[in-house]
Amino acid sequence: MLTCRQGRDVVVTEQSSRSIAPAEGTLGVLLVGLGAVATTFVAGVENVRRGRAKPVGSLSKMSTIRLGKRTEGRSPLIEDFVPLASLDDLVFAAWDPIPDDAYESCKVAGVLDSQHIEPIADFLRGIKPMPAVFDQNYVKRLTGTNVKSGRTKRELAEQLRDDIREFKQERGCARLVMIWCASTEVFISPGPAHESLAAFERAMEENDPAIPPSMLYAWAAIMEGVPFANGAPNLTVDVAALQELAEQKGVAVCGKDFKTGQTMVKTVISPMLKARMLGLSGWYSTNILGNRDGEVLDDPESFKTKEESKLGVLEHILQPSMYPDLYGQIYHKVRINYYPPRGDNKEGWDNIDIFGWLGYPMQIKVNFLCRDSILAAPIVLDLALFLDLAQRAEMVGIQEWLSFYFKSPMAAPQLVPEHDLFIQQTKLKNTLRWLMGEEQITHLGVEYYEYERV
Ligand SMILES: NC(=O)c1ccc[n+]([C@@H]2O[C@H](COP(=O)([O-])OP(=O)(O)OC[C@H]3O[C@@H](n4cnc5c(N)ncnc54)[C@H](O)[C@@H]3O)[C@@H](O)[C@H]2O)c1
Repeated sequence: MLTCRQGRDVVVTEQSSRSIAPAEGTLGVLLVGLGAVATTFVAGVENVRRGRAKPVGSLSKMSTIRLGKRTEGRSPLIEDFVPLASLDDLVFAAWDPIPDDAYESCKVAGVLDSQHIEPIADFLRGIKPMPAVFDQNYVKRLTGTNVKSGRTKRELAEQLRDDIREFKQERGCARLVMIWCASTEVFISPGPAHESLAAFERAMEENDPAIPPSMLYAWAAIMEGVPFANGAPNLTVDVAALQELAEQKGVAVCGKDFKTGQTMVKTVISPMLKARMLGLSGWYSTNILGNRDGEVLDDPESFKTKEESKLGVLEHILQPSMYPDLYGQIYHKVRINYYPPRGDNKEGWDNIDIFGWLGYPMQIKVNFLCRDSILAAPIVLDLALFLDLAQRAEMVGIQEWLSFYFKSPMAAPQLVPEHDLFIQQTKLKNTLRWLMGEEQITHLGVEYYEYERV
């Protein structure tokens, strides 16, 4: 308890670090899907481990964090501040309906040059995908032969649990994390089968179409006490039933949909417009993309899942109901066009129609020539390390502090999600400070000036 100047009592949380189990032993990273993102991630980690490249784009490896007052000059690297698993302690496993090992899949993806593949070919060949729980009804443009069979969805999910246990034992893992890097499934709305754990487990037994493969992986992970992150826009773990299970089993979960190219830019430009009270009348975003993800998203049902995830961002950031004069009439359109010649090298165009003082119109154009998996791979690494940290700190359920990495961040049911990239970054860093018992940074700044002491 602290008595403030006006004589009122205010309660302040005592600063003490949370107890965090040590990051000792091997951390197994279970990847659902061994396509472009997953192989760019594992090949990247191996190149970094061998000193052949730098983990550019990864906060956990490259970012510093300021501690205390600006006068103290304390800004350690995040990895020196919080106890994270070492890259040398990571081992990998994956499931995929396509039987290619990580070496073959890396070549097919066409993201990395041979200088980052050939020297580590043996390592990549050693990662062979386990048979997947796959159903073409949920990803229409894919066929695969490396697939499990079972009488019910429950049986299939139990087979995934067996895989998890076997891998853990064979590789002697102290801990595991699971990350969905698989294709985007068709759009599913939350329904009765997702409302409670009992209804969900009944639906698995009854082969209810409301339970796609991604939910079976999430269920299996949580049942095995393995934290789960969802890199695609599928509902997956963003349903009450699986959150109930996560609470029950004491497991950390987060999602959805890695925030990489165009949406990352959108969540930087739109807060800028709002901060300066500039209006927005329209935002047209289009992309060409030629990788397998682009092919899957060419199916209207998978695209709908992605579209929902991409469209929600502006509405949440700009709050049209609070600012009807500025944002009440936005025309927002998002297009993804499958165009094979570009492979993973996506090109995005944004045309942004804004207006200023007295309503005079202006335009912003963005032409982002990005590399999808190059942007996504460091996110996978950060999520693996931070989710493992959350689990060791017994932070159960939705990890809102990891919103920074997602297009459609999960939040408690009564909360609106936070989309602004820099608020998300502050949330992430303040959570790390909170975990380690360091003061929160509010950026107030009056403490540096005389008038504060009067
Ligand atoms: N790269 C990015 O910038 C980015 C950003 C946000 C989201 N994502 C999402 O990440 C996911 C992966 O993207 P990618 O470029 O690696 O795609 P990809 O098509 O190269 O790889 C996906 C892999 O998942 C496999 N798969 C499909 N269903 C599966 C199942 N049920 N079980 C196991 N494996 C399954 C496919 O066979 C494929 O090999 C996609 O959903 C994509 O939308 C990517």
